[in-house]
Amino acid sequence: MPALVLVGPMGVGKSTVGRLLAERLGTGFRDTDEDIVAAEGRSIADIFVGEGESAFRAIEKRAVRDALAGHEGVLALGGGAVLDAETRALLAGHRVVYLSMDVEEAVRRTGLNVARPLLSVNPRKQWRELMEARRHLYEEVATAVVATDGRTPEEVTRAALDAL
Ligand code: S3P
Repeated sequence: MPALVLVGPMGVGKSTVGRLLAERLGTGFRDTDEDIVAAEGRSIADIFVGEGESAFRAIEKRAVRDALAGHEGVLALGGGAVLDAETRALLAGHRVVYLSMDVEEAVRRTGLNVARPLLSVNPRKQWRELMEARRHLYEEVATAVVATDGRTPEEVTRAALDAL
């Protein structure tokens, strides 16, 4: 069973903070986005473009299930993993930290990142919609919430350890 699962929007720092947390806790780190790219042999953007979002969510659900079954340590999920009810159900019984950020922080951090397929046009509007659609889902699965606005990865890591 993983020690800790990180959820939250893309660009919030799940991978960076996850690696720091794993270091502090003396455990391993795993990221379902990386697992998917390794297993599929192509980028997440390619899967989105080639097969669509719902096919990606099905692949992601399997990746989350496998990672939860076969990994002890810190696990970072993709920002949209919580959209799937069965994926959310897989998180029951685990310690889940929601790394949150507000819309302006999100635009600052990821607004120009074209590698993220959900944010290609009008990032501020898309961020607002994404946050509105997802915030309650992150809160539903979380056992702790850590705000990242204006904080360095080290500060977020410390706050997450305090929140455990
Ligand atoms: C997504 C977030 C991404 C990745 C995919 C979809 C989303 O993960 O899974 O591009 O729907 O928010 P990160 O949160 O690691 O960027």
